[in-house]
Amino acid sequence: MITKPKGCNDLYGIEAKKWKYVDKVIDALMEKYNYSYIRTPIFESTELFHRGVGETTDIVTKETYDFKDRSDRSLSLRPEGTASIARSYIENKMYANGDVVKVYYNGTMYRYERPQAGRDREFTQFGCEVLGTDDPMVDAEVISMPVVLYKLLGLREIKVRINSLGDNESRKNYREALYNYFEPHIGELCEDCQERLKKNPLRILDCKVDKDNDLLKNAPKTIDYLNEDSKKRFEDVQAYLNELDIDFEIDERLVRGLDYYNHTVFEIDTLAEGFGSNNTLGGGGRYNGLVKELGGPETSCMGFAMGFGRVMEALEIEGVELPIKDDVEVFIMYVSETEKMFATSLTQYLRGNGFRVDTDYSGRGLKGQFKIADRLKAKYLIILNDEDLKNDMVRVKDNVKKSEEEVPVDYLIYYFDEHLQDEDEMDEADKFLKENEGEKNEEI
Ligand code: HAM
Repeated sequence: MITKPKGCNDLYGIEAKKWKYVDKVIDALMEKYNYSYIRTPIFESTELFHRGVGETTDIVTKETYDFKDRSDRSLSLRPEGTASIARSYIENKMYANGDVVKVYYNGTMYRYERPQAGRDREFTQFGCEVLGTDDPMVDAEVISMPVVLYKLLGLREIKVRINSLGDNESRKNYREALYNYFEPHIGELCEDCQERLKKNPLRILDCKVDKDNDLLKNAPKTIDYLNEDSKKRFEDVQAYLNELDIDFEIDERLVRGLDYYNHTVFEIDTLAEGFGSNNTLGGGGRYNGLVKELGGPETSCMGFAMGFGRVMEALEIEGVELPIKDDVEVFIMYVSETEKMFATSLTQYLRGNGFRVDTDYSGRGLKGQFKIADRLKAKYLIILNDEDLKNDMVRVKDNVKKSEEEVPVDYLIYYFDEHLQDEDEMDEADKFLKENEGEKNEEI
């Protein structure tokens, strides 16, 4: 048997319905925030991630899936979305009219990690990026948006941690302080960290091997190395977060595992009991230097990404029931060939009029078809019969109340309109947002 690659997942059945539902809530929310959807390639030039994500990050040194194509080009499966968005922003000259660009994406990323709960080799990220503004108000919007999303979905146990790495000057000072602090003790750290000391001592702070070493715990804090401008900026971000009513903590050790950050960085954790140790639902921050680094104009940016699977897991653990549609509205049953022919067009006709309709495809007898209808949780059954059809009538059975009546074929649409007052799924996601936002506003 050929099995799926390690660290990858198949998504199907009820789980797939839940994912698609959350997809729709995200689309509806992003529309409200006026972010446009963007899709970039799943593979890019290897160089993009080396220059974009950073030569010294774990992601680039150990985790990218690199390959050569048939023309000997070096390509990599994308390990994250931000570098690709910056590349696309430059390549498509999205900066040309000077507008702020707000985009979101939702797709698979690839990292060669040791597979474990919450850590896959193929995983899905929903993320957003705001390019072309340095306003701290945007930092607060990008931090608050996932908090709003998680609350809308029904998550309660979340914690927001923020920090600031400051501007280039502050970062440089902090880097020096870290170097001086770690250098005398470098023998106590893992081999990778010894390498990191020279290249980028900040990376030592998010080492997965040394993470419990006291040396890391007592390391200098970013906050003590912020210059006045950076400090003021960080205070502004906090003021906007307070204005938006977002609870947060300052985590002085938060540096994030990618090289492009400056100023604000943040992560959102789930505190749900029973969630494994990889409990960060998402994170992001400001990356004012990346677009320039990749050959574009000086552009200030802020963004965020979340692990879709981790959010689904948190919903499961918190026992949140998503309002997904897991049934069909009408199941059409038949026995003879003429009935089957009529079932074919009736199925299409009802679907075309907006109903969720299914029928039998495997030539089962009526008894078997009743069973399938129950498995599909059909609300109504249409039981075709040649005699009834001669009179342009069908029998409709309410599969919940078990009552049955004869309905003229011409009247079926009105009949189901009256009996199935359901909205389609898209409206459902919008309704969900409205109801939940309404609730939130009442709280204000
Ligand atoms: P990141 O922290 O590397 O940031 O990833 C964001 C989120 O993706 C993580 O918090 C986690 O939920 C999820 N994630 C990461 N790796 C895995 C994995 N192997 N398996 C499952 N989930 C995973 C970024 O990727 C940045 N691009 C975020 C960003 C956007 N910064 C600015 N803009």
